[in-house]
Amino acid sequence: MSGVNEIRSTFLDFFARSGHTVLPSSGLVPKNDPTLMFTNAGMVQFKNVFTGVEKRPYDRAVTAQKCVRAGGKHNDLDNVGYTARHHTFFEMLGNFSFGDYFKERAIELAWTLITKEFGLSPEKLLVTVYADDDDAALLWKKIAGFPDHKIIRIGTSDNFWQMGDTGPCGPCSEIFIDQGPELRGGPPGSPDEDGDRFLEFWNLVFMQYEQVEPGSRNPLPRPSIDTGMGLERMAAVLQGVKSNYETDLFRALIEAVAHAVSRAPEPATMASYRVIADHLRASAFLVADGVLPGNEGRGYVLRRIMRRAMRHAEILGAREPTMYRLVPALVREMGQAYPELMRAEALIGETLKLEETRFRRTLERGLSILDAETRDLQPGQNLSGETAFTLYDTYGFPLDLTQDALKARGIGVDTDSFQAAMQRQKQAAREAWKGSGESATEAVWFGLRERVGATEFLGYETETAEGVVTALLFEGAEASELTAGQSGFAVLNQTPFYAESGGQVGDTGVILAAGVEVRVTDTQKKLGDLFVHSVTVEEGTLRVEQPVELKVDHARRRAIRANHSATHLLHEALRQVLGDHVAQKGSLVSPDRLRFDISHPKPIEAEEIARVEDIANAVLLQNEPVVTKLMAVDDAIASGARALFGEKYGDEVRVVSMGLPVAEAGAKAFSVELCGGTHAGRTGDIGAITIVSESAVGAGVRRIEALTADAARRHRGEESRVLASLAGILKAPAAEAPDRLSALMEDRRRLERELTEARKKLAMGGGGTTAADAPKEVAGIPLMARVVEGVEMRDLKSLADEGKSRIGSGIVAIVGVAPDGKAGLVVGVTEDLTGRFDAVGLVRAGAEALGGKGGGGRRDMAQAGGPNGAGAQAALDAIERVLSAAA
Ligand code: ALA
Repeated sequence: MSGVNEIRSTFLDFFARSGHTVLPSSGLVPKNDPTLMFTNAGMVQFKNVFTGVEKRPYDRAVTAQKCVRAGGKHNDLDNVGYTARHHTFFEMLGNFSFGDYFKERAIELAWTLITKEFGLSPEKLLVTVYADDDDAALLWKKIAGFPDHKIIRIGTSDNFWQMGDTGPCGPCSEIFIDQGPELRGGPPGSPDEDGDRFLEFWNLVFMQYEQVEPGSRNPLPRPSIDTGMGLERMAAVLQGVKSNYETDLFRALIEAVAHAVSRAPEPATMASYRVIADHLRASAFLVADGVLPGNEGRGYVLRRIMRRAMRHAEILGAREPTMYRLVPALVREMGQAYPELMRAEALIGETLKLEETRFRRTLERGLSILDAETRDLQPGQNLSGETAFTLYDTYGFPLDLTQDALKARGIGVDTDSFQAAMQRQKQAAREAWKGSGESATEAVWFGLRERVGATEFLGYETETAEGVVTALLFEGAEASELTAGQSGFAVLNQTPFYAESGGQVGDTGVILAAGVEVRVTDTQKKLGDLFVHSVTVEEGTLRVEQPVELKVDHARRRAIRANHSATHLLHEALRQVLGDHVAQKGSLVSPDRLRFDISHPKPIEAEEIARVEDIANAVLLQNEPVVTKLMAVDDAIASGARALFGEKYGDEVRVVSMGLPVAEAGAKAFSVELCGGTHAGRTGDIGAITIVSESAVGAGVRRIEALTADAARRHRGEESRVLASLAGILKAPAAEAPDRLSALMEDRRRLERELTEARKKLAMGGGGTTAADAPKEVAGIPLMARVVEGVEMRDLKSLADEGKSRIGSGIVAIVGVAPDGKAGLVVGVTEDLTGRFDAVGLVRAGAEALGGKGGGGRRDMAQAGGPNGAGAQAALDAIERVLSAAA
């Protein structure tokens, strides 16, 4: 019996022996495909190789590919946990031929592997082929000796494989194993094919077409092979267990879950353990590949997966964040095969913990609302979509989590009205997924790249060089020349212009020839190695095949270099101060500043920033050379170079080191990173590093902005001048300015309070009572009527209260007129008179004169307001009239 790790390597070794190049899994975020949310099959990284637009130095390959099927065309999320086979994350083992061998060799190889290497008994095996694929049927007969009834023809999409709505596709042949009559189910194509008895474990796709758009298919230049074997299924077969979740790897994960929730699995709770184990894998691998939980696109799918797992942890009794505690077990099981897991371990833990902490706050409330709303529902009935939407919107319950929570009780959710509510509230959600925005697959660049080849980049060594124009683009199409005044794109055989990548902006400068002057406003990279210059011809005509001189804007590049090196130093300094979980989540290196995003769960304190600056600036004073080496990727990573998660590197990488090593860290220099950017010659060239801001850019991601060299000095200078002028105004030494200012602010608050009090007193007639202040009698009732100015509207009520206590028994009416001419009116009636007079009625009588309508309150105190302060006295007169009439 073989473990999962052993099966994986047996597969890879077998195909390596038969001439296949073993390649690493590509990342879960497809780099070359804007139509795909996640890598969902082994062939994704080879998509352009199949269609012929990209060439590789090999025509056979084998991989173990990380895949996620959740969201998008292949979506398995809802079933996960409740079946023996579904996963959000799984590994696909595949062998590939790019125009090399086709059906016959593919079937031969597959047959040898499963019967000889894996030792499956031929009697138990059977296959399907696409309905009209006679070749495949004949080949199976010849190679496996299958009788006709073991070669089942299927005419549906089950036997025609497509990656997505577009892309390479073709008929396929699936290999099944009969797990024995004790299990229910019939062979493929029979009415009860969905039973467990016949299990599909390997899909051989005979790639023949490219789906260009729905309804339109082109033949591929050379027929190819793409296969996909579910590693988890194969392991279940070889280990003789009936569910993927009973294989060694999943047993270990489920055991870790049991340990974390202090509870052993039972049949009734098994689904929850499976959900957690599955979703742990998906979450961890996605985070390792650079996806963070968010509210849109990939981030939202990740959040749904995480939250679904977290609810199941809750079902198992977990009352504290749990998922992050399972990460070490996962790394133990899968870290050898996927080192990115080990590298990202701290980040995965932090991300899970943060998301779980956030979600826990609302989980219980949401669940109790869900309980209350569904108490009276019977199996077969639906929860209203509006309620599901409220849960989604207010409590962060993704729809599938709500559905999942009700599933066991047989209650559904009215998804139509959920969607309607969603549309109404959030237009943006409709376009949650628009693709990754990469447009590198634009046809024109492919053709061009094929014809003119890669651009040789000279810009690490020089900022001035000669080159030959190999292509020009004008208004989206290739052109033979660009004349004065025209703007377009220029490609040359070689260039010193750095094309934007790794956060570093593209170079600008000029292209010159006799009588020709061209301004370069940006440089971008297409298809990885085609450098495309955005140009405007200022003088003369730029022609294809013309030799020219290229000059990078030197001062701008020097500033960019300093900023890029400073980014590396800050990265390491941040890691030293904040901890190992700090990983780069994005960066911008431009001539005037640098921006650096890192994973960190909380704001970075001022004191931490000061330490980061100290550490980074100390390296500047060392003034050591910045050293760049070319290395093989694996050697680079083994040597401790920091790599970006989810980033794809070529076979050879540049490793940039700077600063003296920190003794205890063991690395060869202060900072060692894989980086294709351009850097300062020595750390001293950076001059100075100043962090100018720190902010949040998303859950768990902080953004640092910093300046170097002259910009840093000018920024500090400007700050000093501001401080000096503040100190001058405060007439205090700069160091005492903050205390002095605080004291002044405190004084001001006290004075404001005193002023308010004084104004109130004044408004009510000062400290004593003079004849003029005395309330007048209206039909025997004391009435204190006042117009006051300079008293805040919100203080009118307390004035009225004070008036009431002064007169003891009677009525108080106060109009306050604000500086903008608006008026507020408050009427108070002392307790003994509320039986006879209603403050609300009186206030309404007065409001009219203020141009206001209505008014409200209680019988003893009511208020109103209006735009017309000039009617203040009229308002009081109106109240007096009503009073005399009523009394
Ligand atoms: N690409 C094929 C699949 O995913 C092998 O099934």
